[in-house]
Amino acid sequence: EMNADERTFQQRLDDGIKIEPKDWMPEGYRKTLIRQISQHAHSEIVGQLPEANWITRAPTLERKAILLAKVQDEAGHGLYLYCAAETLGVSRDELLEQLHSGKAKYSSIFNYPTLNWADVGMIGWLVDGAAIMNQVPLQRCSYGPYSRAMIRICKEESFHQRQGYDALVKMCREGTPEQKEMAQDSINRWWWPALMMFGPSDADSVHSAQSMAWKIKINSNDELRQKFVDQTVPQAEYLGLTIPDPDLKWNEEKGGYDFGAIDWAEFYEVIKGNGPCNRERLAARVKAWDDGAWYREGLLAHARKKQAARAA
Ligand code: ACO
Repeated sequence: EMNADERTFQQRLDDGIKIEPKDWMPEGYRKTLIRQISQHAHSEIVGQLPEANWITRAPTLERKAILLAKVQDEAGHGLYLYCAAETLGVSRDELLEQLHSGKAKYSSIFNYPTLNWADVGMIGWLVDGAAIMNQVPLQRCSYGPYSRAMIRICKEESFHQRQGYDALVKMCREGTPEQKEMAQDSINRWWWPALMMFGPSDADSVHSAQSMAWKIKINSNDELRQKFVDQTVPQAEYLGLTIPDPDLKWNEEKGGYDFGAIDWAEFYEVIKGNGPCNRERLAARVKAWDDGAWYREGLLAHARKKQAARAA
């Protein structure tokens, strides 16, 4: 049963009014947003690592410049999202502590390795493509700071997706047979993990119902996954790549593709910390934090000195 405050709050949501940081909100709403926004921020930051692996080995100067810009955009998204989370009364130090201690989740997808150059294109096309599918509706999320952050992030993600697809067009349609093979090897490894990005099936999604009632989530996990498959299959056909799913088949009646069963055991292992690169990813973030200690201390010392000078 909702109390009077909760009823008024739900009415505001139902009327499409955005919730702002100083507005009253149920504790559960605040907690859910902190969880989702911080997981999202961590994903952007950890998500820099697999692609950064290829910056020094990009095949041309142009590709290198594009990749550098893209990886920097991801850092910007992370910082933007940490700011949005901070408006809910949590500190960035707390959020980073949760990431570094392994307590906080980040997207499963970034625990897979980037083994060849086509993986950079594949991440842009499939991973950023899936991210956009999930984030475009989040522009309409009920929490003002998060919804506004999504607007800019989606614009940049669209550029990322296009650059990935463009790299794959070059390899698959204009490149050598070896380049096309490399792309096929890459989609074989990334297809299923990309589908897992949308989260557990609706039947197993713990938070969906409440989050949708609060308009924190606009669509269910399975809805978005289906839309992603339907959008992506024709793009794979244009590239001449085979999607590694023998059960993938157009279903005239539903006007969408049927697809095979996702290996949920793999998904849950990855989000428990046992994916192929979980340990490596976390270690890289912890090292970056530790290596930056001297700089954070320097900033604090500088701030204290200025304050002392002002007080004198
Ligand atoms: N990777 C890691 N964890 C996941 C994933 C995933 N792909 N999908 C679901 N989970 C986790 C949830 O965080 C939740 O764990 P928790 O209770 O410990 O927080 C649990 O699995 C159960 O899932 P749901 O109940 O379905 O969780 P939720 O309602 O939060 O939905 C979703 C998950 C769809 C990812 C949602 O949080 C969301 O839309 N987040 C914003 C977008 C985002 O974070 N994108 C990051 C990847 S894109 C990028 O950075 C390029």
